[in-house]
Amino acid sequence: MEINQLNPDIVSVAPSALRVFDHEISADPDIVKLTLGEPDFNVPEHIKQAAIASINADQSHYPYYWGIQELRDAASTYYREKFGYQYTADQIVCTVGATEGLSATFKTLFQPGDGVLIPMPAYPVYKAMALVNHLKPIMIDTTANGCVLKPQQVTDAIKANPDVTIRGVVITDPSNPTGVVYSEDQLAALVPVLRDNKIWVISDEIYGELTYGVQHYSLSRWLPDQTIIINGLSKSHAMTGWRIGFAFGPTGVIDQIAKAHQFQVTTPTSIVQYAAVEALTHGQNDAAAMRKVYEKRCDYLKQELTKLGVTYVEPQGAFYIFMKIPEQCQLDSFAFARQLAKDYHVGLMPGAPFGDPQALRISYASSNENLHAAVDALTKELTKLGVLA
Ligand SMILES: Cc1ncc(COP(=O)(O)O)c(C=O)c1O
Repeated sequence: MEINQLNPDIVSVAPSALRVFDHEISADPDIVKLTLGEPDFNVPEHIKQAAIASINADQSHYPYYWGIQELRDAASTYYREKFGYQYTADQIVCTVGATEGLSATFKTLFQPGDGVLIPMPAYPVYKAMALVNHLKPIMIDTTANGCVLKPQQVTDAIKANPDVTIRGVVITDPSNPTGVVYSEDQLAALVPVLRDNKIWVISDEIYGELTYGVQHYSLSRWLPDQTIIINGLSKSHAMTGWRIGFAFGPTGVIDQIAKAHQFQVTTPTSIVQYAAVEALTHGQNDAAAMRKVYEKRCDYLKQELTKLGVTYVEPQGAFYIFMKIPEQCQLDSFAFARQLAKDYHVGLMPGAPFGDPQALRISYASSNENLHAAVDALTKELTKLGVLA
C-alpha cells in the first residue's frame, strides 16, 4: 500500500511534539519530568469507590450516546453552580476526555477551507485538529498583550486573510501553556467583534477550577448561541486516564456534535460515567485541596525564576509556567531542553510546539522535590552557559 494514497490531511500532520519529546527523554531512567500536564494527585477515594460499585452492579452495557442522563443532569447543575453555565442536560454531551469533545466540535462546526483563529502561545492540538479537518489555522501572536487575545487582533486577522472565511476562534482559559486567565473585561471586549463576524467560539475551560486568586469566567455568558464549551474531569479531579469530558452548546448545534461524537466513540466507558456522577454530585470541593498545593508550587517557581533573573508570563491558573530562555544562552527551546535533560536529568517542555521557540513550559503538577530539582538544574545550566555568575 502506498502512503500517498492515504488521507493527506492525516499523513501531513506530525504526531504530537509534546508526546514525542516526552517519550525521547523518558529513555533516561533517572529523568525528573515536568513535561506533561498530568496531575500528580490520585483520583479522590469516593470516586474510585463509585467506579468499583459500578463494576459490581454490572453497569456494563452501552450507555446512551450522549452519555447517561444522571451524568448530564449532574454536569448541568455542577457547572451552573461553579461557573454560571446555562445548559440543560439535553445541551451536554459526555465525551472521551476534553480531547474527543474538541475533535467532535472541530468536525461539526466548520467546512473544509474555513479559517480558525488560534491565539498563540497555544496548546498544539488545536492546530493539528484544524489541519486534519482541512481547515486553515490562523495563528495570532498574543505575547505583546500578556498572552490575551485583543479584539483588534481579530479584526486584523480578518483583513489579513481576505480569501478565507474565518468561522472560529479557540479560547483556552485558563491557558495551557501560559497559565493566563482572561478577566471579565477582557472577555467582554471580544464579544462585539466575534458576534458581528459570526465567529464560533470553542472555549476550552478544562483548567477552569484551577485559578489562583482570580475568578474564571466563560465567554458563553455573553455568546451562548455561538459558543461550544469544552470541559471535563481530567484536571479538576485528577482523572486524566479515566477519559471523561463534556461539550456544552446551543440546541441544534450540540445535537450535531453529538452525532460526530457517536460516530467516533459511541460514548465514554459506562463505569467511568457512573463514577463521574459521584465526582459531580459529591466532589464539588475535590479540586480545592489540589488548587492550594498548585498555588504554593506556582509561588515557589515564580520566586526562584525571579531570583535567577528569568522572565515568564505571569500565571494565574492551570499548572504551568511559561519561562523565557535568556537570550545569552543562544539555544532554542529544543536544544536547551535536551541539554538540561542530558546534563541534569530534568525534563522541561520546549516552547516551540506552543509557538515560542525561545520559551520552556514548566509543569508544576509535580512534587516539591521535583520542582527543587528543576530549579537546581536551571541554576546549573544557566551558570554553565555564562548567564549567571
Ligand atoms: C488546554 C487543554 N485542553 C484539553 C486537554 C486534554 O484534556 P483531556 O485529557 O480531558 O482530553 C489538555 C490536556 O493537557 C489541555 O491542556
